[in-house]
Amino acid sequence: MKFFIDTANLEQIKEAQDLGILDGVTTNPSLMAKEGITGQQNILDHYVNICEISDGDVSAEVISTDFEGMVREGEILAALHPNIVVKIPMVKDGIKALKYFSDKGIKTNCTLIFTAGQALLAAKAGATYVSPFIGRLDDIGYDGMELIAQIRAIFDNYMFETEILAASVRNTMHVIRCAEVGSDVMTGPLSSILGLLKHPLTESGLAQFLADHAKGNK
Ligand code: G3P
Repeated sequence: MKFFIDTANLEQIKEAQDLGILDGVTTNPSLMAKEGITGQQNILDHYVNICEISDGDVSAEVISTDFEGMVREGEILAALHPNIVVKIPMVKDGIKALKYFSDKGIKTNCTLIFTAGQALLAAKAGATYVSPFIGRLDDIGYDGMELIAQIRAIFDNYMFETEILAASVRNTMHVIRCAEVGSDVMTGPLSSILGLLKHPLTESGLAQFLADHAKGNK
């Protein structure tokens, strides 16, 4: 499973990249605003800064919701750096934009996916990635992981090349469950990745090894 980090924070992207396990970055307008990045040029510059840290795909989201606007914005974003993936919302014109970019060989990520039908439609339009939001489904009493499993079954039935990018990952258990059900990619906060490191027996075991080594070397 590929690991993406879901943030626009350059320090956190660098920390994950330095671990050597990062495969890409996803952002959205809320994450950019959270970092205080506003104004079109600053936003474009920030995407370039992210691409200079990460080796992998970097999702950059369009703001327009009409076909012409999405194409205009997406082309500007795609021209910024070869690693840019144009992130398109799941709306009717978005499907047309996915097809347009797919035909031009530009990578896309269809965001705000909450049903298997939406994922199927985006895959039919040639999306590179679909982003089902598992945490937001869990928040309202649905099982986000069931949606990942359902999309996995559909994509496997027809051998769609579109990759499932589990988004709105909130914690380490989400990461592990995504791997169990066969998500191609997960994108989560740095904490969800670093949580994979932890077990109290690892910590106490290491402390014991180091203490025993120190005793034997007195
Ligand atoms: O990639 C989409 C993701 O950022 C949404 O996460 O935590 O705002 O539901 P969240």
